[in-house]
Amino acid sequence: MFEKILYPTDFSDEALKAMDFVASLKDAGAKDVVVLHVIEKGSFDAIARYAIKDIVEIGKNLKKRAMKEMRPIEDTLKTKGFKVKVIVVTAVPYMGILDIEKKEKVSAIVMGSRGKTNITEILLGSVSEKVVRRAKVPVLVFR
Ligand SMILES: Nc1ncnc2c1ncn2[C@@H]1O[C@H](COP(=O)(O)OP(=O)(O)O)[C@@H](O)[C@H]1O
Ligand SMILES: [Mg+2]
Repeated sequence: MFEKILYPTDFSDEALKAMDFVASLKDAGAKDVVVLHVIEKGSFDAIARYAIKDIVEIGKNLKKRAMKEMRPIEDTLKTKGFKVKVIVVTAVPYMGILDIEKKEKVSAIVMGSRGKTNITEILLGSVSEKVVRRAKVPVLVFR
């Protein structure tokens, strides 16, 4: 059931806690982890409106920075004995996550209940709520 796990991260503390949970699923048979960061298309579009001629460069830099932030996560999971694939895409975050769920044929998704916005009054953030509602595979939301 947990053979191939999709772990989407926005690099928040909440998402980081979920990574510890991913690691603990080794004993439940987890072998592969797909680590995914989605660069928010919305913010990218906003930048594009004001900096048309720089947009390719900005896009590259955003991706490069995300890839760099992925490195320690990748290393930690590899050290724990997982086969790790790192993906960075630009999309509406929940759509990007559901798209990779399908493309990578994962068996479960592990994510934080909240992320960067982290409003304590709400149970689920907007991304985790949409993923829980629409994913085809089990979603473990870590608090
Ligand atoms: N841009 C993103 N790329 C990948 N995963 C994300 C992204 N945004 C959120 N997530 C995942 O969804 C979880 C919940 O975040 P979110 O619903 O955005 O909460 P919040 O509203 O507090 O930011 C995060 O812990 C992370 O696992
Ligand atoms: Mg968020």
